[in-house]
Formats: sequence, C-alpha cells, structure tokens
Amino acid sequence: MARGDDHATQPWVEKYRPRRLDDVTQQHETIRALKQLLYGSGGSSLTEKVASLPHLLFYGPPGTGKTTTALALCRELFQNITNRETLQNRVLELNASDERGIRVVREKIKRFAQSSIEESVDAQVPGFKIVILDEADAITADAQTALRRTIEVHSRTTRFVLICNYLSRVIPPLASRCAKFRFKALEDGAVIARLEHIARTEGMGPLPPEASRLLAKAAAGDLRRAVNLLQSCADWARSADGSQRVLEPEMVSEAACMVPASVVERFYDICVSRNEPVTACFEVLRGGYPVDELLRQTLELLLLDSGTPPAQVQMNDLQRSAIALHMACAEKYLCDGATEAVQLLAFVANCRSVLQASS
Ligand SMILES: Nc1ncnc2c1ncn2[C@@H]1O[C@H](COP(=O)(O)OP(=O)(O)OP(=O)(O)O)[C@@H](O)[C@H]1O
Ligand SMILES: [Mg+2]
Repeated sequence: MARGDDHATQPWVEKYRPRRLDDVTQQHETIRALKQLLYGSGGSSLTEKVASLPHLLFYGPPGTGKTTTALALCRELFQNITNRETLQNRVLELNASDERGIRVVREKIKRFAQSSIEESVDAQVPGFKIVILDEADAITADAQTALRRTIEVHSRTTRFVLICNYLSRVIPPLASRCAKFRFKALEDGAVIARLEHIARTEGMGPLPPEASRLLAKAAAGDLRRAVNLLQSCADWARSADGSQRVLEPEMVSEAACMVPASVVERFYDICVSRNEPVTACFEVLRGGYPVDELLRQTLELLLLDSGTPPAQVQMNDLQRSAIALHMACAEKYLCDGATEAVQLLAFVANCRSVLQASS
C-alpha cells in the first residue's frame, strides 16, 4: 500500500490510478456489489456485516481495474485508520509471479496473519487483515492446493483477495472459497472519456477525435495500455520549449506499433486479389512493420470490417473461418520463432487458396 508517493514523477498509470471504488471506470456491477458488501444499501459508514466479508476473487483481462479495485477496497475498509504504519500492518500485497515459489508466499502470509492487530480505537475499523494475492493464476495447481489450506487456517483473522486474468487457471476448490467478481474489457467510449480527462488535467488540451479513436482501438479494452500510450504520445508531442503540439493520429499509430491503414489495405489486396503476384508481400515486409500486428489488422479488415474493404470480396462464413484458422496457425508459428517472411507468404497463399477453392 506504499503507492501514491511523489505524484509529479509518477508514470500516469499510477498517478491516475483511482483511489476510491466510485472512481473506477465502467465496472459498475462489480463496484455496486462491493459497495453493498461494505456499506449495505446506502451511506458511507461500514455496516456491521463487513465483519463477515467473504474472500474475494477478481478475474478478467489486463488493465481493467482489478488491482486498482482491490487497493481501493482496502483503502475504504480501513479508511478510519489514520496511522500509516497501522494500515501497512493490515494489508499485504503479494504478486504470485514475483515471489520465489509458493513456500515463500505461504511463509509471508503466515507471518503477516500471525502478527497481532493493534487494539482498534474505532469500532468502524474491521477486525481483520487483507492479503491481496495478485496473479494467482500463475501459481501451479499443486501450490494452489496448498494455498487452499493456508487460506482456511488464517480465515479467522485474514481475508484474501485473489486476482487473476484466467479464472479457468484457478483450481475449483480455491475459486469456490471466494465470491467472484468479473472485470470486463473497457468499452472504447469509457477509454476515450478517461483519456480525455487525463489529457485535460495534463494540459494537453482536447484530444483530436481521430487520435483518441486510434488510442482506444490500440488499447483494445486495456486502460493501462491506453494511458501508457497517451503518455508516450504526450512526450513525443512536447516541443523543446515545453509547449504541446496537437496529437496527430500518426503519432498514435507509431507509438502503438500499429501498421498504417494504407499498408494494411495494400497487404489485404495482395491476400485477396489474383492480379497481384504473391511475392508482392515482400514489398510490405520491407517497411519493417511487426508482422504479427500486420496480420492482426488485416484479419480485422478481412473478417470484421466488411463495410469498406479496399477490394470488395464476397466471402461466406466458411471462408472467413478457414482464413481465421490460417491466421491462428501463423500467429502460433511466429510465437514459436518461425521466419516472418515465410509466414507472411504462407498466409497470403492460404487466403488465396481458400478464396479460390470455392469460387
Ligand atoms: N476500470 C478502471 N478505471 C480507472 N482506471 C483504470 C481502470 N482499469 C485500469 N485503469 C488504469 O490502468 C492502470 C492499471 O490498472 P490495474 O492495475 O487495476 O489493472 P489490472 O486489471 O490489475 O491488470 P492486470 O491483470 O494486468 O494486473 C491503473 O493504474 C489505472 O491507471
Ligand atoms: Mg493487476
């Protein structure tokens, strides 16, 4: 909980991390349910029922507010503790993937849970501690089984907040000990509203609509990524005299390693048009763009943006599915270290044979 120091030099993701549950963007149902657990149906005082707060499990994609919400929850639970030392005594933040093995995690939890809580001067301060176990899905199944017992042993004095990206990687007996809360990928509108608020506060002025649309697109529901991108763009757009230039869409594409639309459209043409030599894809490669990103953006054009593709191609669902499968293979091979040029060529060849087979 030692976050929040030295505001001016902090990265924006930390500087603009919401401190209260109400400030968390878009996760309305989760926030409403958590506030119900803390405050009942109204008011700002903790209810007596908070004493029976269950263990919690937050899950969902990256950058959607899970860690933020866990920290805000602790701040609100222990809002009546003014002594910083005491607050640190109440909240232990562990990152499962940082810690060296489950034994260290268990030892730390044991030591923390066994240290006594100072005599509470305020009936509004809950009589338990909180362990936030981030990235719980990075713990092996065996270690999770052991953790189950740790949670049980310390349940009287400690509540656990487990956080993960993939609920399916948490073993059912562990998950079933917790009340589960799902965090959704943020909608573009919510991302843009948050970015505009940050841009205004940082003196960047209103964001041009095309730039904020691209920022939201590149972030794909991950607000951490969106805020980091905005900060990189702001650094680029700052002139030597400290004045801020208008944020051009090209700056956003560059910062996000996005491939320019004209290049994607050219590659799309090569994938679908028999008039182009297959080897034309090497022209595209020479631009030095990341191939996985080029494929991802092309797939979007092929499958989703059926509105205005550069070359009108009538594709049925079977063909779209076949192309998506080829894309999945190319992505896997690239992850495994295959040669970019070969994968690009193979993808073009596969697209063409899918389209040709049924024409
Ligand atoms: N719902 C949100 N409301 C406001 N800010 C958010 C939200 N989600 C993410 N952010 C911003 O992104 C940063 C990272 O968020 P957070 O650490 O809560 O993500 P997370 O869901 O825990 O991601 P991960 O799964 O990668 O750990 C925050 O500091 C904040 O600036
Ligand atoms: Mg997190």
